[in-house]
Amino acid sequence: AATTRYEAESSPAVCDGTIDSDHTGYSGGGFCNSENASGAYAQFGVTASAAGTATLRVRYSNGTTGARPANVTVNGASGPSASFGATASWDAWTTETITLPVNSGSNTVRLTATSANGLPNIDYIEV
Ligand code: GCU
Repeated sequence: AATTRYEAESSPAVCDGTIDSDHTGYSGGGFCNSENASGAYAQFGVTASAAGTATLRVRYSNGTTGARPANVTVNGASGPSASFGATASWDAWTTETITLPVNSGSNTVRLTATSANGLPNIDYIEV
């Protein structure tokens, strides 16, 4: 099936931080720079045509030397984890692929940081 892109800066997405545009290479109008704290999040509304397992691609940048791990929740239920390893700089973007369960119709997908550094900069997700 075709994938849909959901930008981190576009409603109904919610960024627990600021929408920034001070690094190059992002899609759309900017990216989510979450708070540098455990529990910081980026949330997305995702529409699925059928219930089942979906492939989620998260485009992000992490210009530090350490991973910025996160948990993924779907409709409030705990889901898979993401590692969000380092990228070459804050201008370098890469994609991490995660599989997760979705309901048919509307879903709320939240990436929640599990380290004190918060999330990487999040550009968009595609499902
Ligand atoms: C730098 C960078 C930000 C990034 C932040 C972080 O300040 O410019 O884009 O979000 O580091 O460590 O999260």
